[in-house]
Formats: sequence, structure tokens, C-alpha cells
Amino acid sequence: MNYRHAFHAGNFADCVKHALLVPLLRALARKPAPFRVLDTHAGIGWYDLEGSEAARTGEWQDGLARVLAGGEAGPLADWLGLIEQLGCPPRYPGSPALTRALLRPEDKLVLCELHPEDNQTLRRAFARDPQVAVHQRDAYEAVTALTPFPEKRGLVLIDPPFEQPGEFERLFTAMAQVNKRMRGAVIAAWYPIKHRAPVRAFHQALADSEIRDVLTAELWLREPTDPRRLNGCGLAVVNPPWGWAEQAEAILAELLARMGRGEPGQGWDVKRICDE
Ligand SMILES: C[S@@+](CC[C@H](N)C(=O)[O-])C[C@H]1O[C@@H](n2cnc3c(N)ncnc32)[C@H](O)[C@@H]1O
Repeated sequence: MNYRHAFHAGNFADCVKHALLVPLLRALARKPAPFRVLDTHAGIGWYDLEGSEAARTGEWQDGLARVLAGGEAGPLADWLGLIEQLGCPPRYPGSPALTRALLRPEDKLVLCELHPEDNQTLRRAFARDPQVAVHQRDAYEAVTALTPFPEKRGLVLIDPPFEQPGEFERLFTAMAQVNKRMRGAVIAAWYPIKHRAPVRAFHQALADSEIRDVLTAELWLREPTDPRRLNGCGLAVVNPPWGWAEQAEAILAELLARMGRGEPGQGWDVKRICDE
């Protein structure tokens, strides 16, 4: 396992994922019944934007720093307000910290992180928190072992590092397994856009599957033709809450206005992959 998220925290892909995740969590908290979130690839929870890892790549300078320099928050107000409350910058909240901040006392968060050192850091971040459980467990084993949720409602975030071949296939299989075990669960699955062919194949696999009600929200900083570069990224969402598509459109347009450098072919879209 070579991937360490500390080198990438706050980059453009994190901004896309986290800004789109907040309205999914808000929607869950609108109904009174308790919910649970399973974050299968959790990372370490919090990231120091002034730390040596962040300085080594400088990725957040092309992501969060450009977002924060963009003035009036507009459609990003909810996410940016939340991260500011949580001490960012310099402390950047990853998906576990953002989710934890939006739980009510009756809700639960389950985190899986396989990397031994990152798992220890994550455990320390949520030590003695009765609403959070941390596992050192393979994500793809966890999606069946830890579902269905006792609460019968919630969200599964699947955010793999895409460092091994076959990740799109494993991601699709995990989504299908969760959907079969919990039809109503929201599933949010992050994926890279390096070039179009694997993304098209992933969308086609979803469209051909038994999974219903899937939207994708994507942003790309340049025409995705160079497979060696992370040109863009997307979030595929099963059972998106009412109104999320419109929120996602506004968020992506604002993120591209701030993080885009006007490279040829840059863009974003929100589209329906599977009917309801
Ligand atoms: C993209 S990072 C997660 C970032 C985090 N979700 C966030 O938004 O703050 C992916 C994480 O998955 C972990 N990981 C990789 N393979 C895994 C597996 N099979 N099961 C669980 N965790 C894994 C990596 O160590 C890494 O910390």
C-alpha cells in the first residue's frame, strides 16, 4: 500500500468529493430517523495543510487554496462554512471529520482504513467517541460484513486510491453488493477521470446492472486524454436525495470557475446513468 492521502489532501479531487458529500449528509439528517455512514476508505480523518506531506506535493495549492481565494462562497457556502468552523485552514477535514461534524447524537459513523499507520492515526482522532467505530479492515470485505445497517438507512462512501489495476471493477461490484443488501442506502463512489474509456465502461456497467437511480457528477480540468494524469474526477451516487442534482450542478460550476485554468476541454456535468 503506497498511497498516503496526506500528500493529496485538499487537492481539486478532495474539493469535488467533499463539497458534493456535504449535501448528501445534510439530506440524511433532514429526516428524524437515525442513520449510519460507512466510510470504506477513510484515510486519517484530519490533514495538516502546513505539514511536510502537504508541502512536498503542494497539491492543495491548486485545489482548496484556489477555492478559498475565490471570494463570496455562493453554492460552496455550506462546505466552506463547515470546514472553517472545523479550523480549516490549516486543519483540513477529510470525509470522516466532515461526516462526524454532521452526525446527530443518535447517528453512527463506521470507518475502515487498511494502512496500519494511517489506521492508528485515525483511531487516535476518534478515540473515546462513542458514535464512531474504526476498523482496520479491507473495504471490499467491509461492504458485505458491515451491511445492512441496523438503522436501515444511511450512506456508504467508497473512495478507493485507484493504485491497483481492476479498481473500477471492484468499485462497481461493491456498489452492487451494497445496493442488493440495502436498497434504499445512498452510495457515493469516487472515481478518477484520467481518460474517458474506463469511465465509459464503468457507467455502462452501472447502466446494465440491477442498480436503479444513479447520478454521476463529474468535473475535469482539461480534456481527459492523457491517461498518466488525474485530469478530473467524478462521484457516482445511488439513491441521490431530492434536489441533490441541482445542488451538484451549482457546486461543480463554482468549483470549476475557481480551480479551472481555462485549459482546453475543461468542464463538468451531472447526468443520470440509471433511471429511478
Ligand atoms: C483516497 S484515500 C481516502 C480519503 C478519505 N475518504 C477522505 O475523503 O478524506 C484512500 C484511503 O484508502 C486506504 N485503503 C487503500 N486500500 C484499502 C482497502 N482495500 N481497504 C481499506 N482502506 C484502503 C488508503 O490507505 C487511503 O488512506
